[in-house]
Amino acid sequence: MKPVSVSVGERESDLGELAVPLRLEELLEGKGDWEVELGFGKGRNLLRCAQESPAARFVGVEMASAYYRMVRRRARHRSISNLVLIRGEALLVLSAVLPQGFASAVHVYFPDPWPKARHQRRRLFDAESIDLVLSLLEPGGRLFFATDHVEYGAAVEEMLDSHPDTIVHRLAGLWENGARTNYEMKYERQGRPILRLEVEWHPQEAGLAFHPAGEAGILAATCPRTEP
Ligand SMILES: C[S@@+](CC[C@H](N)C(=O)[O-])C[C@H]1O[C@@H](n2cnc3c(N)ncnc32)[C@H](O)[C@@H]1O
Repeated sequence: MKPVSVSVGERESDLGELAVPLRLEELLEGKGDWEVELGFGKGRNLLRCAQESPAARFVGVEMASAYYRMVRRRARHRSISNLVLIRGEALLVLSAVLPQGFASAVHVYFPDPWPKARHQRRRLFDAESIDLVLSLLEPGGRLFFATDHVEYGAAVEEMLDSHPDTIVHRLAGLWENGARTNYEMKYERQGRPILRLEVEWHPQEAGLAFHPAGEAGILAATCPRTEP
């Protein structure tokens, strides 16, 4: 696996050069809320959000080096300065690189659903790994999710719905601001059914939020919940 890289503007660092969990406030100064996108692909949503909300701060995580480099280049061309890009595998990044409880929103659009049984361990959304995704959120934060694999989406919805700390809304149609990502635009044009969720996060207790069905194989993050 390629080493994790972290870039802010022109500056790119390997993980060995940085304190982990990342001190995001030092990487990107300011007071704006943080939003995270996992698997940003060609970065349509991430770049647009960063450009449209210059006071907010964004973290993008993408495993594919080609997409990471492409979005890094595009961000520089557009002079976007409120963005931290991380090249790395999301479960690794969530468990060891990012702090917890810092984001007002987490976006995951069209994650690879790994339909084959032997691949399912790599999914971001199952009962054993969902705590890592939700633990990025501050109380009251929101998770946005979309997939064209509606059967998988329904399973994700049911799994999130059975979490004691979430309120799940299934959207009847498109997001208010239209298709957000490249895949969403493509699938909308093709008329594919898309399942979209907006999930409110209301933890009853501080600390890690384990899904009750995932206790057998919890992937617990070791990072502190909040930054100093
Ligand atoms: C189907 S594409 C969707 C891209 C984008 N979200 C969109 O909607 O256009 C899935 C993306 O997630 C990335 N990805 C898949 N598994 C990942 C993982 N475990 N960690 C980080 N990125 C991942 C892939 O490289 C790819 O860019």
